[in-house]
Amino acid sequence: MDIPSPMETIRRRVSCRSFDGRSLDNKIKEKLRAFFRENTRGPFGNPLRFELIDLTEAERAEMKSLGTYGVIKGAGLFIAGAVKKGACAMEDFGFGMERNILFATTLGLGTCWLGGTLNRAGFSRKLGLTAEELMPAISPVGYPAHRRSLTDRAFRFMAKSDRRKPWQEIFFDGRPGSPLARELAGPLGEVLEAVRIGPSASNRQPWRIVREGDAVHFFLARTPGYDKMTGEVKLQEVDMGIALCQFELAASELGIGGSWQQAKPGCNAGTWEYVVSWATDK
Ligand SMILES: Cc1cc2nc3c(=O)[nH]c(=O)nc-3n(C[C@H](O)[C@H](O)[C@H](O)COP(=O)(O)O)c2cc1C
Repeated sequence: MDIPSPMETIRRRVSCRSFDGRSLDNKIKEKLRAFFRENTRGPFGNPLRFELIDLTEAERAEMKSLGTYGVIKGAGLFIAGAVKKGACAMEDFGFGMERNILFATTLGLGTCWLGGTLNRAGFSRKLGLTAEELMPAISPVGYPAHRRSLTDRAFRFMAKSDRRKPWQEIFFDGRPGSPLARELAGPLGEVLEAVRIGPSASNRQPWRIVREGDAVHFFLARTPGYDKMTGEVKLQEVDMGIALCQFELAASELGIGGSWQQAKPGCNAGTWEYVVSWATDK
């Protein structure tokens, strides 16, 4: 199932931590479930599964204190998902979950990636997580409240959520250190912009991209120590999957054909970790 107008949807998406408490009607829930049923693989092929988790009244009450540590207000419905453990499992999860988030956005629903402020054990149980799977993150889903809660505003302020790194810090031409100017990026400019404005854990934006000939290489610039708290779950690798998702959706909307490939970038990327490349069709 396709996401209508991906670029516009990517621009419109914003984390929502304050919901108005209305339940979703069954038709909308069924649309989400139908989308999940087809959203079972990312670019690296690790199996994905997503479910809607509807909390009971008692669980919603518990949620206030436990579930999302009070960060999320007024939501009782969550998108939770699992990926089978494997190479690049986190990237595949980020890719698939961001597709869900964008699809929910097209239905006028609010969402918020939660990888840190959630009761992982409680949600893993509800999802029936197996020993071979990981549940990197979840998201509440519902109708946004008219006003953001104080916690929501504080969170946005702390994470500087309305800001993004400028082009010259994340996009490069030929080699790191040589910035790719937006004016010189051609049709790729709009696609890279879709990556730049994407969500990331604590808004760290760990993606770095080097254009080399017809290839676009993706590297991960990890924040030292950042992923220590979440065990096997690596949120910055999930961020990378989000970048790949936004890139692929924007490229396809703009008619830039290509595919994901493992390449051997010619440049020296220092401490950045190479992840994958988009090879543009000739
Ligand atoms: C993988 C991931 C994990 C996140 N975890 C949390 C979280 O635990 N709690 C939270 O309130 N926001 C979380 N966020 C939301 C980010 O803080 C948010 O995306 C970022 O600040 C940019 O703001 P925006 O989404 O409104 O554009 C997470 C985002 C991502 C991508």
